[in-house]
Amino acid sequence: MARRLPSPPKAGLLNGLRFGTDTIRFLEAIQARFDDGTSISIPGRPPLVILTGPDLVAEALDRPDDFTRIPARGAVAMIAENGLVQSEGDLWSQQRSIVAPSFGGRQVTAYANTTGERIESRATQWAEIGRQRTDLHREMTSLTVRVASEILLGEDIGKASADQFHEWMRIAGEEFEFGLETVLPEWVPTPTSPAFREAATGIRELSEGLIERRRTSLAAGERTDASDMLTALLRAEGDPDVDFPTNQIRDEVATFLIAGHETTALSLSYTLCLLSWYPEARRRVREEATAALGDGPPTRDDLSELEYTKRTYQEALRLYPPAWAVFRRVNGPVKLGGYTIEDGAAVIVPLWSIHRDARYFDEPDAFDPDRWARRDPNAVAAYRPFASGPHACIGRGLALSGATLVLARLVRDFDVDVPDDALDDLRLTPTLRPAAGISATIDPLD
Ligand code: HEM
Repeated sequence: MARRLPSPPKAGLLNGLRFGTDTIRFLEAIQARFDDGTSISIPGRPPLVILTGPDLVAEALDRPDDFTRIPARGAVAMIAENGLVQSEGDLWSQQRSIVAPSFGGRQVTAYANTTGERIESRATQWAEIGRQRTDLHREMTSLTVRVASEILLGEDIGKASADQFHEWMRIAGEEFEFGLETVLPEWVPTPTSPAFREAATGIRELSEGLIERRRTSLAAGERTDASDMLTALLRAEGDPDVDFPTNQIRDEVATFLIAGHETTALSLSYTLCLLSWYPEARRRVREEATAALGDGPPTRDDLSELEYTKRTYQEALRLYPPAWAVFRRVNGPVKLGGYTIEDGAAVIVPLWSIHRDARYFDEPDAFDPDRWARRDPNAVAAYRPFASGPHACIGRGLALSGATLVLARLVRDFDVDVPDDALDDLRLTPTLRPAAGISATIDPLD
């Protein structure tokens, strides 16, 4: 007979408060205590279900009708209401099938090669500047947002807009930061700040500008063979079988501008921090990159020679998953494994704490890229930085190939060093963000 998931010993409200104020430590304590998961009652809110076991996680993520996305409301909807990251059901499947071809093998090659060219010119600039102190996270954001806009939307937004975007994302991060309001009763309104409203307007207007320019160039018969995502969306507009809600294309552009760069920028920053702290791993990446890369920009063809660099990135995504959790709402009541879960329950899949659980990873706190050469089945089953199931990340191939080339190119020619406490103050927004950037020294090798 199905039973309910167990609850932690303290009263629901206390657990809720700890969840809202000391989220990471709370999730780690829950992870250590419960094999499958827990259900926590919070007064005035639906129960909070935290899934800790990889089998239950896989099953929940495979059943999007029972474990649905949480609809975009309030501040999130001010940026995009119906993009692929937010939508569900028929709209989601229509949108996913329109954009999916833009993420196939040809696009991955184009993305990897464009990333290679962009990192080559960034590395040339860094070499000209010489030793410098800079915000590593800003550098990585400006690189990835420009590559994402060029590849997905057919236009590089340029340095000024990329810097502006970084600032908008910082403001949005503050707005979306996890805190007490996470556990306040649902009727308590949470107002948005003027700075956030301005950032949301800026992102929408930037998206509209990109759409208008691409629409005009398509109408003028320019670049009609383009296979980028925005072109696919604009072509679909004329298809009688396609039904776009108002602002759908703008929502997708804003969504992809964000989803297409932020997590990748964070993951690159975190990997470079780890390599600064683990000199032997950095030495091995450098040795591999020196043997694999030629004189010009790195390309997709170099990837097969960069196995250790790939493992390094994979391991950094385990320890610092930029999407630190996946969120769902139960459309039920439903059965999951041997458990019944209440209708309306908020479900959290805490990738951060699952990825650091000693039941699945030997020496879970160690940065050990070679664990991925050993392919321990427990580790493989528990590792989900891109989620899984129908909503699994559509940009996974792009991120893996682009990031590997960036890391190889930078580590070959530069020491990027950060202080030991660079990642001590991480903030939980929908992504895991450094509170105040990452101050790094970039030193060209002789
Ligand atoms: C290291 C980089 C990345 C990480 C860690 C990451 C992580 C994730 C995760 C965990 C999800 C699942 C969210 C959920 O189920 O609620 C997701 C979905 C998604 N990601 Fe990524 N992502 C990355 C890069 C990218 C890139 C480069 C793009 C676009 C070019 C992208 C676009 C998306 C989209 C559109 C979805 C929603 C897919 C759907 O529901 O059909 N991501 N990503």
